[in-house]
Amino acid sequence: MDSLRLVRPELLDLLGYEPIEPVDVLAEELGIPADQIVKLDGNENPYGPSPRVNEALANFDLYHIYPDPEQRRVRQALADYLGLDSEHIVVGNGSDELLELIACLFLSPGDVAVNCVPTFGMYAFVCQTRGARVVEAPRRADFSLDVASVEKAAREGAKVVFIASPNNPSGNTISAADLEAVLSTGALVVVDEAYVEFSDQSFVGLVPQQDNLIVLRTFSKWAGLAGLRAGYGAFPKGITELMLKVKMPYNMNVAAQVAVLASLADRETLQERVQAIVRERERLFGVLAAVPFLRGFPSKANFILYRIQGIDAREVWRRLRQQGIFVRYFDTPGVKDCIRITVGKPEHSDRLLAALKEIGGSLAP
Ligand SMILES: Cc1ncc(COP(=O)(O)O)c(C=O)c1O
Repeated sequence: MDSLRLVRPELLDLLGYEPIEPVDVLAEELGIPADQIVKLDGNENPYGPSPRVNEALANFDLYHIYPDPEQRRVRQALADYLGLDSEHIVVGNGSDELLELIACLFLSPGDVAVNCVPTFGMYAFVCQTRGARVVEAPRRADFSLDVASVEKAAREGAKVVFIASPNNPSGNTISAADLEAVLSTGALVVVDEAYVEFSDQSFVGLVPQQDNLIVLRTFSKWAGLAGLRAGYGAFPKGITELMLKVKMPYNMNVAAQVAVLASLADRETLQERVQAIVRERERLFGVLAAVPFLRGFPSKANFILYRIQGIDAREVWRRLRQQGIFVRYFDTPGVKDCIRITVGKPEHSDRLLAALKEIGGSLAP
């Protein structure tokens, strides 16, 4: 194909982001009914959206009108929720879109960004599509930040540092002291709090005092809106203005905006579900501690990372799949032989536990 000659050469070999498959595709692949799939691979919320979201979407009657490009109502509601001024807030088509816009705003081809691996794959992906260079600052064995190497990269000219807290896939949070050290380098620090509602620590309150800090959030996890795509972020005021200029005018569709407003109005229900997931996370961590080939890492998110020891990790993942139980498998540096298990409902944990015991029995040397 001749037009390939015209493509930006650095994109020809792009690895791409490795997404998870939807339930109907998985069910078809395995030849089992979709309702028998236990989907613990996407860190989604097993309880779904608030019932008020369904109601609000059914009653909304302005689907034929473009959304407000300045997102005024939804930004104000989020500002009230966070206790910040709305001039700090931008919403996006998932927080993924905000990552892409941050890369668009800050990273020219050849610029450097720091990625604290192992972490969420989207940071490297958005850098690569912009032609920016990614410098890796590998986390320590316990997945805490190696602050010295982040500081070194930042002092050598990196413009942006991406830090997920809680981190995906390890589930641990960054300490206030580590964040302060990274902020003091003057690089733009993007703290991704996609899972913050399952933890006990947020840095969003620092945004008004800290002109190199962005905190990203999402409705995908705690509010069960992953499919609708609703993310937001708190930005320094001058950056908000620019984000609103570089984004597509109608980036968050009206359905997502209605859903965000209805979710915020039904925080109590959603919080109860978050608490149920946190309780289930602790129960699952406890019961899986008795599985001899699993070593778990304590988590502050809605998933737990396990290292598989003594038996073939890929085979465990594959056999779980065969039984309709989907978890995420990793084979990259720092998370070799690891699986990440999303915390589902108690019955999902029970099926997983039974399957793991059976698989362990048949694979044991
Ligand atoms: C750390 C992290 N940030 C962001 C996202 C994506 O969020 P959204 O659905 O809002 O694009 C994910 C999704 O898995 C994630 O793990």
